[in-house]
Amino acid sequence: MAVFAHITDLHLRPPGILTLGRIDTDRFVARAIDAVIARHEEVDAVIVSGDIADIGEDDAYARALMLLSRFSVPVFVVPGNHDRTARLREAFIAFPGHAEPPVTDKACHSAVVAGVRLVLLDTSVDGIDTGEHHGELGPAQLAWLDELLADGLPAMIAMHHPPFGSGIGFMDGITLKDADAFAAVVARHPNVRRIACGHVHRVIVGEVGGVTAMAIPGVAHQVELTLDLEAPARLVMEPPAYGLHLIDGPSAVSHVGYVDDFGPAALFSVLKDEAEPEQ
Ligand SMILES: [Fe+2]
Repeated sequence: MAVFAHITDLHLRPPGILTLGRIDTDRFVARAIDAVIARHEEVDAVIVSGDIADIGEDDAYARALMLLSRFSVPVFVVPGNHDRTARLREAFIAFPGHAEPPVTDKACHSAVVAGVRLVLLDTSVDGIDTGEHHGELGPAQLAWLDELLADGLPAMIAMHHPPFGSGIGFMDGITLKDADAFAAVVARHPNVRRIACGHVHRVIVGEVGGVTAMAIPGVAHQVELTLDLEAPARLVMEPPAYGLHLIDGPSAVSHVGYVDDFGPAALFSVLKDEAEPEQ
């Protein structure tokens, strides 16, 4: 069985600068990493599914590298719509997959982890300067994925933009453009067990090409849950979280863990005995 920890949407600024003037993402990211390391020693690898930086600054990537280097297992990093692909690759050149990406101008990569084919797709279009926040995989990356999945290994795909609509209007305006082409590739490969994403800063579950696709919350701020299609884009400080994906042959299970410490776990048996003492 392969166990993947999944953190996403770090939105780091250079040390000492608050994201959007008020969110201490540096502290939020450090807390999330601390929580995963302290609680889940069974993790085989870590997935970081984009928006590593908030506006793509070199100092933010340097800080992300320092923070993510705390993991003792391989860490797989892909960009999101807030990243600059070239700078991210440069910063994470010593991490898996970034020395020689298989597709030109994309930071996609893949590795086999505990018998599971992990595929990291790059949905970013490098639009931080032009204000383009949608995602696109492109034909070359989809062809690479199609070929890769033909090995028949149980596969887990991670990417920034979810390949499904969320019903949250302002997020669906910046979704994955070639989601249908991606779904067609997935549908051809029954060995795909799970698709995991970020971007929408919430737990959202969809189905793509017959496979369960799941977005997990960010490690800092979240996106407001509203089905009002005219609602403006708003963030909300709901609990930060991380994902845990367990892939075991044909089986795939995903959990969401909260970063916050809600106090020690209590034994049901002790509480029951206390509540109903024997006469
Ligand atoms: Fe984000």
